[in-house]
Amino acid sequence: MKTILVTGGAGFIGSNFVKYLLAERPETELLVNLDALTYAGNLENLLEVQNDPRYVFVRGDIRDRALVEELFARYRFDTVVHFAAESHVDRSIVEPEIFLTTNVIGTQVLLDAAKRHWKLEPDNKYSREYREGVRYLQVSTDEVYGALGKTGLFTEQTPISPNSPYSASKASADMVVRAYHQTFGLPVNITRCSNNYGPNQFPEKLIPLMLHNARNRKALPVYGDGMQIRDWLHVKDHCAAILTVLEKGVPGEVYNIGGNNERANIEIVRLILQELDRPESLITYVQDRPGHDRRYAIDNTKITTQLGWAPAYTFQQGMHETIQWYLDHPQWVEHVVSGDYLDYYARMYGHQA
Ligand code: NAD
Ligand code: TYD
Repeated sequence: MKTILVTGGAGFIGSNFVKYLLAERPETELLVNLDALTYAGNLENLLEVQNDPRYVFVRGDIRDRALVEELFARYRFDTVVHFAAESHVDRSIVEPEIFLTTNVIGTQVLLDAAKRHWKLEPDNKYSREYREGVRYLQVSTDEVYGALGKTGLFTEQTPISPNSPYSASKASADMVVRAYHQTFGLPVNITRCSNNYGPNQFPEKLIPLMLHNARNRKALPVYGDGMQIRDWLHVKDHCAAILTVLEKGVPGEVYNIGGNNERANIEIVRLILQELDRPESLITYVQDRPGHDRRYAIDNTKITTQLGWAPAYTFQQGMHETIQWYLDHPQWVEHVVSGDYLDYYARMYGHQA
């Protein structure tokens, strides 16, 4: 892996991955970050690498075929790691269409370019031979599996059964990636990770939103009864897992990523209040999210036993560091908590919180 296209590298996980890869793999020749800089993209996440000679930023849309073609022709990528997406479930309930165009069509544009530029005989529709060492990795989510009851875990064999427009768009993209492997032999992997937390997460997602509100002594809006369960993983553990799949994954395989760390939402909210020394009276139960998935939990047996990946962070250490990061970077938070975000916040929570 020498020349790599990362999409969505200005977002939460993508920016952590860009920094992680350049630090962990000094032999990387070039990393091109293609990002449209939507409300969720923030170049402040990448200040540490902006002067690295191996790093190039391109502002552009993954749905722009001409641009994607031109980038493949110019840089001759051997690896694609596709993070770019509309990623927030609540936004997908309000505005589903952009989730389908970005998450599904955007993925297909990237797959087409990879197929055309990597195939040894591009004009032969039956040819399944590709340049040596090329790999396309689709960053997907455990949400494609739908919701679990009180017991059980998502394995790679769990039927795809998405419940939100967001997870439906991610599941659709996964199916297209699978089809490009089955039909054209494109060397792909799909990773399905559980909920991430860590530095640089946009404060519309549970942990940074609650942190921000607690810090400012604002109400903490907990959906429904707060007993929904997510399986939390530190973003750096996710980045390490993606690198492991790129280097050791078997083409065509799906790998679930998770750290056996199930927590109820209300437990996380209480932990944040405790760490910030704020009263529980800030907790405000608000109307539940429509179609709210009750529980997610990952069986990580495949990636741990077959590829040797394991999470490095404990939840206690990871949350402590994450909270400290947000406290140490008030400017980062202030910059993103403005403009579009404020309009969105008012639409989402109205007078409730
Ligand atoms: P994010 O919303 O923080 O970042 C998304 C990035 O994609 C932004 O920088 C945005 O500008 C960019 N983008 C959006 N539309 C684009 C377009 N049309 N063209 C180019 N760039 C575009 O998302 P995230 O939380 O970092 O998630 C990254 C990926 O990981 C997503 O595919 C998501 O589905 C997946 N994922 C996220 C989690 C999680 O807990 N956050 C868990 C599992 C999987
Ligand atoms: P979120 O961070 O949006 O991730 P996802 O929906 O992709 O799992 O939400 C995590 C959990 O927290 C989910 O069960 C919804 C809940 N939640 C709240 O209770 N209040 C909030 O304000 C938000 C944003 C989320």
